[in-house]
Amino acid sequence: MLELLAPPPADPLWDLAGEFAADPRPERLNLVLGVYRDGTGVTPVMSAVREAEARLAERSDSKEYRGLSGNTSFNRLMLSAVLETEARTARATAVQTVAGTGALRLLADLVRRTRPGTTVWISDPAYVNHQPILEAAGLKVRTYRTRDADGLPDETGLLDDLRAAGHHDVVLLQGCCHNPTGSDPSFAAWEALAELASANGWLPFVDLAYHGLGDGFEADLQPTRMLSDRLPEMLIAVSCSKNFGLYSERTGCAIVLGPTRQTLRHVETALQNAARTLYSMPPEHGAAVVTTILADDALRSLWREELDAMRGRITANRADLVGNLRALGCSDLAEPLARQKGMFSMLPLGSDAMRRLRRQFAVYGTASGRINIAGIPAHRIPYLAQGVAAVCDSAPGAHVAPAVPAPR
Ligand SMILES: Cc1ncc(COP(=O)(O)O)c(C=O)c1O
Repeated sequence: MLELLAPPPADPLWDLAGEFAADPRPERLNLVLGVYRDGTGVTPVMSAVREAEARLAERSDSKEYRGLSGNTSFNRLMLSAVLETEARTARATAVQTVAGTGALRLLADLVRRTRPGTTVWISDPAYVNHQPILEAAGLKVRTYRTRDADGLPDETGLLDDLRAAGHHDVVLLQGCCHNPTGSDPSFAAWEALAELASANGWLPFVDLAYHGLGDGFEADLQPTRMLSDRLPEMLIAVSCSKNFGLYSERTGCAIVLGPTRQTLRHVETALQNAARTLYSMPPEHGAAVVTTILADDALRSLWREELDAMRGRITANRADLVGNLRALGCSDLAEPLARQKGMFSMLPLGSDAMRRLRRQFAVYGTASGRINIAGIPAHRIPYLAQGVAAVCDSAPGAHVAPAVPAPR
C-alpha cells in the first residue's frame, strides 16, 4: 500500500539544515534554524535549568500519568508569568502543550471545533509553520501586510488589510520579535489593532515564542497584556523553547481568555479532547523544569539574568553586523537591520543572492533572506558582513571574495 504515497515535499528549513550538515567547508556558518548559540557556537543548557534538573533528580519519585491538561502547577505559573495580574488570570485557562507548535495546533483545533471553516489571518511573510498548522486543523488562511516594497515595516498596510477581517475571523499575531522579519508593530499600532478587533469583533490569536529576547521579558509581553485588558476573548500560544532553552523538551502551553468561567471550562475540555486524539498528554520533564524555576525566587532571578544576557548578546551581534555593513558602505542593507529585534533578521536579499551566499561563502540563511542573529559567533561577524556585501549587487565591491581570514 505504501507505494501509493506520492512523494511529499521536504521541509524547507530542515532540508537546508541537512545541506549544512553535509557541507565540508570549515568556514560554514549555520544561520538557518532559530536556536540561540553562545559565543562558542553552542546552544547551552541554562544554569537555572541545570539546577532545576538537579533538584528534580533528587526528589523524583513517580512517572505516573499527569492528566489531560498536563502539569497543572506549570499551567498556573505560566498564566501568571504571561498575564501578570490576578484580574487577567481570573479570566483565563491554560493547558500544557507539546511546545509552541502543540499550542498553535490545539488552539487551531479549538477554533475549528467552535466554528468550522473559520478564516485565520496570518502575516506576510509568516512563520513558516503557521499556514501548514492552520490548514492541517481545517482552517482557511488569509494574509495581512507587514512590510512595504522596500522591506520596511508597513503599519498602514497592516491596519488596512485587517480592516477586512470580519466578525468571525481570527487574526494570528506574533507577540514580539516577529519571525522571520524581526520587525514588530509599534505599541501605537498594537493599540490600533485592539481598537479594530473591538470594533469588528475578530478574535486575536497571539503567538509568543520569543518573549524575553526583544526588549526584555516584561516589555515583550506588554502588547499581549494590553490586548487581554481591552478584549473579552483571546487565544495565546506560548513556547518555552527559546526563552528557557528547552527546545528538545517540547514545553509550552495554550492560554485562552474568555467571558465566563463556564465558557472557560468548555474551552479546557475541548483542548483536552483535541490533545487526547493527537498525543493524549504532553511530556512532563520540561514543564517540571519550568515549574521548579518559576516557583523559586532565586532560580527565577537566575533564569531572568541568563535570559537578559542572551538578549544582550543578540542585540550586540545585530549592532556589530550593522556596524560592519555600514563600514563596508552597505547602508541600504544595514539600516533595516538596525531597526529589527529578536533572534531573526531579514536581509534584503533575494533567493539568488542567498544561494550565492551559501555557495561562495558557506553562509546558510533561508531562501527568503532570514538569518539567525543569535546563531553568529561574534568573531565571525566581519566574515558574514563581507559575504553579504559581496553577494549584494548594490553594494560597493560586489562579488569580491571576503578579505577576512579563515574562521577559527
Ligand atoms: C513564531 C513561532 N511560533 C512558534 C514556534 C514553535 O516553537 P516550538 O514548537 O519549538 O516551541 C516557533 C519556532 O520556531 C516560532 O518561530
